[in-house]
Amino acid sequence: MSQCIALFRAEWFSAGMSDTNPSSPDKLDSEGLGPWYDLDLVDAYPPGYQGMVSVKEQDIALFRLSSGEFYAVDNQCPHQGYPLAKGAVVNYQLTCCWHNFKFDLRTGACLKGDERVRNHMVRVHKGRVQVALCHEDPVQLRRRYRQELDEGVHELRLGQIARSVVRMVGLDVSPETLFGHAAVYDAERGEYGITHGPALAMDLLTLYKRYYLEDPLVPLMVMFDFLTHTHVRQAPRNRPKPIMPTEDPQTTGERILAGIENDEIDHSEARLRGAIRQGWGRPEVEPWFYELCTRHFFGFGHGLIFTEKVFNLLEIVGWEAAEELLSGLLYRMGYATREDILPEWAWFREATQALHPLFEVWFRGADEKRGLSAPEDFLCRVLDGHRTEALQAVTDELQVGVSPEAIIDGLSIAASERILRFDPRWDSDYTVEDDWLTVTHTLTFVHSVRAAFRRCPRPSMTMLLLFAARFINRTRTLDMTARTSETSSVRDHWTHETSVDHWGCHQKQVDQIVEATLARKPQEAMALGQRYFETGGSVEALEKKLCRILLSDHIVRPIIYAHTIKTAVAAFEELRTMRGHRVLYPHHPGLAALRLLASPIGERNTLRMLHEAKRLVVDGQVPKRLYI
Ligand code: FES
Repeated sequence: MSQCIALFRAEWFSAGMSDTNPSSPDKLDSEGLGPWYDLDLVDAYPPGYQGMVSVKEQDIALFRLSSGEFYAVDNQCPHQGYPLAKGAVVNYQLTCCWHNFKFDLRTGACLKGDERVRNHMVRVHKGRVQVALCHEDPVQLRRRYRQELDEGVHELRLGQIARSVVRMVGLDVSPETLFGHAAVYDAERGEYGITHGPALAMDLLTLYKRYYLEDPLVPLMVMFDFLTHTHVRQAPRNRPKPIMPTEDPQTTGERILAGIENDEIDHSEARLRGAIRQGWGRPEVEPWFYELCTRHFFGFGHGLIFTEKVFNLLEIVGWEAAEELLSGLLYRMGYATREDILPEWAWFREATQALHPLFEVWFRGADEKRGLSAPEDFLCRVLDGHRTEALQAVTDELQVGVSPEAIIDGLSIAASERILRFDPRWDSDYTVEDDWLTVTHTLTFVHSVRAAFRRCPRPSMTMLLLFAARFINRTRTLDMTARTSETSSVRDHWTHETSVDHWGCHQKQVDQIVEATLARKPQEAMALGQRYFETGGSVEALEKKLCRILLSDHIVRPIIYAHTIKTAVAAFEELRTMRGHRVLYPHHPGLAALRLLASPIGERNTLRMLHEAKRLVVDGQVPKRLYI
C-alpha cells in the first residue's frame, strides 16, 4: 500500500498537477482516493514548513519541503510517541529528535529504528491543501504487527515487542493466538528442539485463563521476554521433509520410537511430520510420546513434563501448530540426556527389568478406591530409604492393588517434602552443579505423571511411578539434613519455631503470606500458609495474589522464572487435587510453592561455569554433582 501512495505522489508532483478536478471532502475522488480533508490555502504552508495539523481529531505532522512537495505522517512517533512534527527533515528523511529513529517521508518506512510510521496522502486542490488519511486494512495491519513482533524478538528489542503485543491485542488478536505463535517460534528455532518456551506458554495461558481474563498483556510480555532472551538472532533450524506414513498408527509410532532409540532423529522427525500432515491427530500421536517417556528418564524428567504441556497447549491453540510443536518436542527428546542409561542407573535398569511382566497384572488389579496402605511408611521409604527401598515402596503398594492415582498422591507429597527440605545454600555454592531447579523438577515431574495416567492409562505407564520414586529419592543429597547431619524434619522446624501472631480473616492472611514471600521470609510464609490452608483458605485467592509475584520483574533470568512459574502452577494444581483426596499432608504442594517463591534463588551462574571450566581444563574432572 505504501508503495502505491509513493507512486501516486510522484505522478502528482511530476505532472505539476493542479486543481481542475474538485472533489468534496468526505467522498472518494474519481480515482477512488480520499476522502480528502481540507486544511488551508497552500500559501499558509511555505516551503520548509513543518507543523502539526488536526484531521478528523487525529494529529498529523505536515511537511512542505523546499521543492514544494507536501508530506504527512502521524504526528506520534511509533517509538515513544513524541511529536514528529518537531523532527528534522533532510532530503526525504525525517529524523525524530528524541531517539533518532529515521523515516522515509515518502513511504513511512523506518530507515533506522524499529517500526514504520503511518503516512498519509496530501494534495493541493483549488489552491488548498488537502489530506486523505491512510486506513490500513486490519488483516494487513495484523500481519505487519506480527512481523514487527518477530523482528523485535529476533533482535532482542523489548520495547518493540511490547508495542507490537499491545497493538495486536488492540486489534483483537487473541492471547491464545499469540501464545501459540510464541510456542511455534520457539519450536522452529531451538537448536535442539523446543526449549521451555511451549511449556511456559501453557503455564502462562493457565494463569491467564484463571486470573488475567481482563488483561492478557502481562503474561504475554513475560512470554515474549523469555522468547527473545532465548532465541536472540537465532535462525530457524533445518527441519527434515515429511515422510508420509504407509502403515497403521501403531506401527508408525513404533518406527518413530525406534528411530529415537537408534539416534536416527531426523528420520523420526520426518515420519512424525508426515503423520501429522496426513491428518493424524492427538488420539493417534499422543500415545507415542507417552510411550517414549516410559522408555527413558529424559534429563530431569523434561521429556514427560514437556509432553504434557505441549499437548495441552495444542488443545488450546489448535492442532494446526502440531507439526512444528511436536517435531520440536521429538527432536528435543532425541537429543536429551537419557539419565536411565547412565552408569549410576545400572542397578535401576536391572531392578525394573524384572518388574515389567508385572505391570499388566498390577494395572488390571488396581482398585481405584484404595488409598496407600501405609502412607507414612511410604513417605519415609521414598524420601529417606536406600535407593532400592524407594522402588520397593511403590511396588509394595501396587502389589496389594493400590491405584496409581493414590501412589501419585504419595509421590506428590514426597516431592513437595523434598522441596521443603532443600538446602538453599547449595543454590549459591558454585562448586556444585545442583541448585534449586534440580529439586523443583521432582514435583513438576510427578504432576506430569498424574497427567500421563489420566491421558494415556496403560500398563507401561507404571514405569513412570518408578522413575518418580527414583528421582525423589535420588535428590535427598540436597536436603538440609544431608548437609547438617540433623535428623529432625525441616517441617518440624518451621512449624514450631516460627511465631506468627496475626490470624485475621483469610483475606488478611493472603496479604500476610504475600508480604512474607516478597520479603523473602520463607519460614514465615510457610507458617502463615499452613494456617491458611488448615483453616480452609481458598487456594485460588492465594494463587491469584501470588500470580503478581510470579509475573512481576521479581525474578529476572528467563530459565529461572520459567521454572518458578512451572513449579508454582504444578504445585497449586496438585494442592487442588490433594484437597479432594484423603491424604496425609494435603497442603504440602502449596507450602513447597511458597518456600520456593520466598527463597532467594540464584540468578547468575557465571562463577559455577568458570569453576566447572577450570575443573575440566585444568584438573580434567567432571562437575561435582550431589544429585547422583
Ligand atoms: S520517540 Fe521518536 S525516536 Fe523515540
